[in-house]
Amino acid sequence: MPVPVVDNAYLKAIESARRDLRAFIAEKNCAPLMLRLAWHDAGTYDAVSKTGGPNGSIRSEREYTHAANNGLKIAIDFCEPIKEKHPTITYADLYQLAGVVAVEVTGGPTIDFVPGRKDSVATTPEGRLPDAHLGAKHIRDVFFRMGLSDKDIVALSGGHTIGRGHKERSGFEGPWTPQPLKFDNSYFKELLRGESEGLLQLPTDKCLLEDPSFRPYVDLYAKDEDAFFKDYAESHKKLSELGCKHTSPAFGNAKASPAVDSHASTATVLAHSAFGLAVSAIVVVLSYAYEVRRKTALK
Ligand code: HEM
Repeated sequence: MPVPVVDNAYLKAIESARRDLRAFIAEKNCAPLMLRLAWHDAGTYDAVSKTGGPNGSIRSEREYTHAANNGLKIAIDFCEPIKEKHPTITYADLYQLAGVVAVEVTGGPTIDFVPGRKDSVATTPEGRLPDAHLGAKHIRDVFFRMGLSDKDIVALSGGHTIGRGHKERSGFEGPWTPQPLKFDNSYFKELLRGESEGLLQLPTDKCLLEDPSFRPYVDLYAKDEDAFFKDYAESHKKLSELGCKHTSPAFGNAKASPAVDSHASTATVLAHSAFGLAVSAIVVVLSYAYEVRRKTALK
């Protein structure tokens, strides 16, 4: 499937789809499911073989029927009318945009969204997403395979500040926090408080408390929501762009395809030149002022 040409028309379609997603997610209260869709499309990435990642492949039946993806067909279907309205946007971009909007509309941080992801139907083998019954070693194996770090693991686990487990989908039931439609740092506060009646803590959530390298991030994010939002936004952006450098010129790989928008590149070159000219002009003016002051002082 071709790499999308990220020209002005594509950027306009993205902004329009962003507005449609905002309205749709607010109307259906489906932010958590949309965030889980974006994460499960991206979270199959393998940095060594450069397979999987945010490429829209979760829409294929072979992948959405993986046990870890139970329930996500609903989110895939939710995205379909928006894809029909904006057919030029790739599924890969649409699912990641939905994840970014889901965090935003529930009150979370703004996440920088760069469009240009390539679609694929090549599905990865089942078993690349984490198993909630396991512990620290397992989630490190999964997230390190993607090229992510301990900090990314803890920050991204904070995605569970919204949503809930559904017994019929995963076997787990209940929300992680008392306000599961509000993106804040209460996931970390609840983790530190320990188990509470009616709230969920997965074994993979609890292991963040016990592991000496994860724990300092839990403590920090529980007491400092700004620090959580900043790190979450960075880690989410990384997750949403896994593998894109290898496949798309929009992410800095000029060799991937000649499909870079010539207007956009010209605009970038012009902007750089204008900035260079402005800096030179300021240097000339400052040197002149310095020389005049020096001469006046010598008189
Ligand atoms: C650390 C590894 C992770 C494990 C083992 C895990 C596991 C799970 C499980 C078992 C559920 C319940 C699904 C259901 O029954 O509906 C769930 C839901 C959810 N997960 Fe995770 N998850 C992980 C990481 C993440 C990450 C990185 C994010 C996003 C950044 C995320 C976002 C969500 C959201 C938003 C839901 C709620 C979905 C809903 O309410 O429908 N998870 N996760």
